[in-house]
Amino acid sequence: MSAQPLWWQRDDLTFVDGELNLAGSPLGHLAEGMGTPTFFYSAARVRAKLEQIHAALGSTGLAYRIFYAMKANRFAPLLTFLRGTGLCGIDACSPQELHHALSCGFSAGDVSYTATAMSETDLDILARHPETLINCDSLSSIRRLGQRCPGREIGLRINPGKGVSYGNNQLLQYSGGRTTKFGIYREQFADALAMAKQYDLKVVRIHFHVGIGYLPPQLPLWEQVVEECLWFIDQVPGLRSVNMGGGLGLPHVLTDRPLDLEQWAGIIRRHFGPRGLEVCVEPGDFVVKDSGVLILRVNSVEKRRETIYVGVDGGFNLAVEPFFYQLPCEPVPVRITGPVAEVYAAEALETVSIAGNINEALDVWAHDVALPPLAEGDLLAFINIGGYASAMSSNHCMRGQFNERLLFPA
Ligand SMILES: Cc1ncc(COP(=O)(O)O)c(C=O)c1O
Repeated sequence: MSAQPLWWQRDDLTFVDGELNLAGSPLGHLAEGMGTPTFFYSAARVRAKLEQIHAALGSTGLAYRIFYAMKANRFAPLLTFLRGTGLCGIDACSPQELHHALSCGFSAGDVSYTATAMSETDLDILARHPETLINCDSLSSIRRLGQRCPGREIGLRINPGKGVSYGNNQLLQYSGGRTTKFGIYREQFADALAMAKQYDLKVVRIHFHVGIGYLPPQLPLWEQVVEECLWFIDQVPGLRSVNMGGGLGLPHVLTDRPLDLEQWAGIIRRHFGPRGLEVCVEPGDFVVKDSGVLILRVNSVEKRRETIYVGVDGGFNLAVEPFFYQLPCEPVPVRITGPVAEVYAAEALETVSIAGNINEALDVWAHDVALPPLAEGDLLAFINIGGYASAMSSNHCMRGQFNERLLFPA
């Protein structure tokens, strides 16, 4: 009997007496009470991930700031908790996000704002928050912000023409390869600086965000991105800080290794240290993704030709990434009967495809995965789903209802 290793198990995410627990809470028991679909998030895990980034950036000896990218997960209790930790500010990308951050206790000066395709209304709202750190991503936004707020300090979001992403997945890259909508390219940078000068805007920051989910294999490429950014940085006299965006990844499958934050911090120290810049980072996924578990109910189990389909009560409208970006998402039975080694023994597993409840052909969570057998009425968990799931949910097929709960250790 060879047991499948449960690569994702941690002290705070594991089976206890046959039931999946997160942060010491039995998820089956809680989901029975709240109903499904329900997202659970561990506050302690979120804090621990932020502390890891603090430790890494602290080791560089540079001044630094962390802005949590709330687009990853804007659940109000989570944001309020984050505010209470004092460990981060907020990265916002719309006036609505800015206002939500303020309503959860952050001040306008705690917010770094980087958006694309800004409207006149967006700019009017930003003009009312002079303390908010704005990064302009286009000549148009520099001109229109300058008309409203001459003299303001700004950052410029640049496009280094190179990107990094989980598994080098092009769908997850924001620069590099094809021409993207994000940031100011080299060939327009002189015009951008001239435009800022024309409106007396003071460029104090360079911002870049080049892709999602980078892990150890991508770090050499990320270093090349950083080197490319130095070309921009070195042209701006009086620059105070560099914002490196988000994109820090985490393991999705057995073969992924966690991001080596020491190596990451080494790259930062090597390139930004000699320039004496404050370094800022705005991670979303790294902070929240592995704090989250989604619990669904198995509605149907049925064989169609050679495939056993397990139908659950939530689909791609609750978590688009596995469906649109092919990001793997691990299914886990909420309850098991017996020791993990036996339940996950190769011969005990059944190969199934897990389908959602949305009437679209792409609504299949996972194709041909080996799992302990599931029956109608069982609960099924998807782990590592705390980022870009509930936040990107839609009401397609009018199946947009779900619960969320932030868990604290007992
Ligand atoms: C400008 C910017 N900053 C930060 C982030 C957060 O990225 P991640 O959640 O991958 O860390 C994003 C994500 O799209 C972004 O567009």
